[in-house]
Amino acid sequence: MIQMEELTKIYQMGDNEVRALNGASFTIEKGEIVAIMGPSGSGKSTVMSIIGCLDVPSGGRYMLAGMAVENMDDSQLAEIRGRKIGFVFQQFNLLARTSALENVMLPLTYAGISGRERQARALKALERVGLSDRTHHAPNELSGGQQQRVAIARAIVNEPAILLADEPTGALDSRTGVEIMDLFQSLHRENGQTVIVVTHDSYVARHTDRIIKLSDGMVVSDEPNPDPIRAGAPRPAEKL
Ligand SMILES: Nc1ncnc2c1ncn2[C@@H]1O[C@H](COP(=O)(O)OP(=O)(O)O)[C@@H](O)[C@H]1O
Ligand SMILES: [Mg+2]
Repeated sequence: MIQMEELTKIYQMGDNEVRALNGASFTIEKGEIVAIMGPSGSGKSTVMSIIGCLDVPSGGRYMLAGMAVENMDDSQLAEIRGRKIGFVFQQFNLLARTSALENVMLPLTYAGISGRERQARALKALERVGLSDRTHHAPNELSGGQQQRVAIARAIVNEPAILLADEPTGALDSRTGVEIMDLFQSLHRENGQTVIVVTHDSYVARHTDRIIKLSDGMVVSDEPNPDPIRAGAPRPAEKL
């Protein structure tokens, strides 16, 4: 469970303070699939870095599975990131001139696992995202949607409890974006992973069960989505 209480994050820019988060509070239960929305600059990426233990808040509390994250040092944060969290970004962040298989094996490099085992796990993750026939392709030999699937395979190869995706469909056309949301839904349904997706596209957000809206670093709305769009559902014509 993720519990955020009155989170603040202040960036010092010369003489100016930027309040990226200004008292944001919310709780996300294990196994939820949630969207975080809000205008540009509202603090979405900041909140994701804090949830993902890439950064710590300036004030407030962050409890992750009962542990107080705001007090952890860098090595404790790195340990949690490696074990519990998978990240997906808008621009895929894959290594160029490196095969899909090697990209997906990367997070396992330092985990003390044999080469054969790493390869087997990476192949399984690529199979899970539907890319068994593309394991030796480099990113520039793959479509945007396929590159994002490689990035998702890399994010799930450690079987993290929490999958964080910051604008994962932002660089994709709408049809491919929906396919990526379908994949998150099935990971959520079949592996029980907690999935948190940042988006400014309300059609993308409607693929989740709950929508948290941020504005100026505060939660301005937090509602269950009464009518989630399910994987495989027919899409409205204007989205095709
Ligand atoms: N490293 C940083 N240094 C200074 N200001 C930052 C930094 N990261 C984010 N900000 C500022 O914090 C605010 C929130 O940013 P961000 O969380 O990236 O918003 P969003 O993802 O919703 O667009 C913005 O005003 C942004 O300029
Ligand atoms: Mg952002």
